[in-house]
Amino acid sequence: MTLKALRTEAQHCRNCDLYKDATQTVFGEGPKSARLFLVGETPGDHEDKEGRVFVGPAGHLLDRAFEELGVDRKKVYLTNAVKHFKFEERGKRRIHKTPNRAEQVACLPWLRAELAEVKPELVVCLGAVAARALLGASFRLTQHRGEIHDLPEFNTRVTATVHPSAVLRADNRKEAYEAFVQDLTTALAMLD
Ligand code: URA
Repeated sequence: MTLKALRTEAQHCRNCDLYKDATQTVFGEGPKSARLFLVGETPGDHEDKEGRVFVGPAGHLLDRAFEELGVDRKKVYLTNAVKHFKFEERGKRRIHKTPNRAEQVACLPWLRAELAEVKPELVVCLGAVAARALLGASFRLTQHRGEIHDLPEFNTRVTATVHPSAVLRADNRKEAYEAFVQDLTTALAMLD
């Protein structure tokens, strides 16, 4: 199935209940020819409203890192492990909640279909939810950050770093950002 057809079909996904409160499915975006494939966790408040991945604060941080590294965002395939926003209302605010394991598993067929279609050379998981989707539930970011794993089923390799939101929340934001950019630099070197 083409990416366009997958995107259309995903709009009607009922694999779990998250569609009920979310505004829309936020499907991945980027060219089929992308060599680099980035997987986040779930859309946030901005992404849910706009229907596009990584357009909120985490996306801005990613854009800044891309710019520093000379990466053209339009050439990267960007997606999430879970395609609907999960949140809790606090007054007028919608606070992000991490999808539970059942929701993560329910959404996995979409990520797998995107991988099968794009066939990237390298997958970078942003955060533990994305990494667990592809590398198994026992994955621990503290132990396995930066390791390179084969993903023979998709004829690709996968590595994991922190989620950009974790950088934004870090006590030492500058240090966390530099480590994040360093991880991306190492990953990009594998494409040369
Ligand atoms: N965080 C994610 O993991 N994905 C997005 O699209 C936005 C924020």
